[in-house]
Amino acid sequence: MKILITAGPTRESIDPVRYLTNRSSGKMGYAIAQSAINQNHEVILVSGPVSLEPPNDCKIINIESADQMYKEVQSNSKGCDAVIMVAAVADYTPAVYYKEKIKKADDREIRLVRTKDILGSMRESFGYNGILVGFAAETNELRENAIGKMQQKGCNFIVSNDVSRNDIGFGSDQNEVTIFDENGAQQHIDKSSKNLIADAIIEKIETIYGE
Ligand code: CTP
Repeated sequence: MKILITAGPTRESIDPVRYLTNRSSGKMGYAIAQSAINQNHEVILVSGPVSLEPPNDCKIINIESADQMYKEVQSNSKGCDAVIMVAAVADYTPAVYYKEKIKKADDREIRLVRTKDILGSMRESFGYNGILVGFAAETNELRENAIGKMQQKGCNFIVSNDVSRNDIGFGSDQNEVTIFDENGAQQHIDKSSKNLIADAIIEKIETIYGE
């Protein structure tokens, strides 16, 4: 299969020295890319700024902003069998980029505007045969929020995790997730390495592809 995976945070620039970002380390997305490579799939990894060694044997596209990620996912997903959106994409970006450093004496307020929902726009451009996988980072009402996102964004399945816990998720080598699929099935994976969770995700994609 040909699989596009997004990973890491995005970085939304305010001026030449400042930006908005989030706590994503990219570890989950990179683990999924490695797992797909191990299973001999062709992988395109669209990555935000992370401090990880990129896997060998895949095409890497480095981006910074949500808008850049949107464009790369749109153009590189053509011909892919699956897209896995693991990246923690910024929901908001500064309305104006200041070319000169903002001075503190300016006392400026920064207005933010919504970014494009990359995953939410994929089903239309990707077609109905492509396998679409989302992630849901939640702090509360995990099940309801994750299933709502899966349906709204047209995913085959969504991988949800509780980002309020600091022993798993952001920055950690471990995660604990629940996978909800479009047929109502639910699979909980107890706290384990991101590599093991990555293998389970790739296996589920292979099963759907084989059906
Ligand atoms: N996502 C995306 N584009 C965005 C925001 C999120 O493609 N602008 C994707 C993420 O990569 C993830 C899924 O949508 O696969 C869910 O992301 P999450 O941050 O959990 O949810 P949001 O859609 O941003 O909703 P909310 O902030 O209300 O929880």
